[in-house]
Amino acid sequence: MNLTGQHILVTGASRGIGRAIARELMAQGGRVAVHYNSNKDAGLELLSEFPESDSICIGADLEKPEDVARLFHTCIDRLGKLDTIIVNAGVFLPHPPDMPPDSWFAVWKKTLSINLDSAGVLTHLGINHFLKHGGGRFIYVGSRAAFRGETSDYMAYAASKGGLTSLARTVARSFGKSGITSFVLAPGFTRTAMAESFIETHGESILLDEISLPELTRPEHIAPLAAFICEGKMDHATGTVIDLNAGSYMH
Ligand SMILES: NC(=O)c1ccc[n+]([C@@H]2O[C@H](COP(=O)([O-])OP(=O)(O)OC[C@H]3O[C@@H](n4cnc5c(N)ncnc54)[C@H](OP(=O)(O)O)[C@@H]3O)[C@@H](O)[C@H]2O)c1
Repeated sequence: MNLTGQHILVTGASRGIGRAIARELMAQGGRVAVHYNSNKDAGLELLSEFPESDSICIGADLEKPEDVARLFHTCIDRLGKLDTIIVNAGVFLPHPPDMPPDSWFAVWKKTLSINLDSAGVLTHLGINHFLKHGGGRFIYVGSRAAFRGETSDYMAYAASKGGLTSLARTVARSFGKSGITSFVLAPGFTRTAMAESFIETHGESILLDEISLPELTRPEHIAPLAAFICEGKMDHATGTVIDLNAGSYMH
């Protein structure tokens, strides 16, 4: 794969799946905007692995729409253009049904702000940028939860990923003739910080029992697909959802 000349924003690239994707893109020659929220040091450390890539690191709290817009405009100012926007950052926050209504709704709003509203802002800005520059690609990191549903503690999370999937498909349907394509990577359980607390509480065997492969998915299993899409090899599959759930849910 050769991503030389490709400028790519990866949100949530300080940890987990986003970090593995950003690392893969830089290893293939891409110039990446590594976005972080609280883990600046992790973002800088990743950049230091690829000094020749001329990649950059930008902080933004995606719960705040003004930060989302600033992230996008900083990318354009510093990179000149974007070819692909990878919407990966997300939170997985429990809000069990027995919570008091105000606290339950506060978690709902926070989840939707980070996981979906910020994706909407980036999509709007990205479409207008791509229309002026002959096209571009969106990759949304969705979830198996959009199709299978989640447990009752994570209703907002499942709803946010359902919204993200519909957004991705609408972009694919609407802007293909302008050279804009759109894809969803839909992981199942993947070994990241987001998932480790579940493993600590419930153990690993419950997760191994539901997958058909012998080991849990790791971020490195997902990253090459993002590079493949960025290279343009998947354009005729625009609108597609790629399931990466180790055979745990087929639909
Ligand atoms: N792990 C799984 O089992 C799994 C399964 C299906 C889908 N996914 C999806 O995959 C994506 C990545 O998940 P992951 O497992 O890699 O998660 P993770 O290890 O918890 O990393 C989350 C990333 O999102 C960033 N982030 C969190 N809150 C943010 C905020 N308010 N503003 C901006 N960025 C924020 C974090 O930045 P900082 O570290 O800098 O704060 C971090 O880079 C998510 O969209 C998730 O829903 C994960």
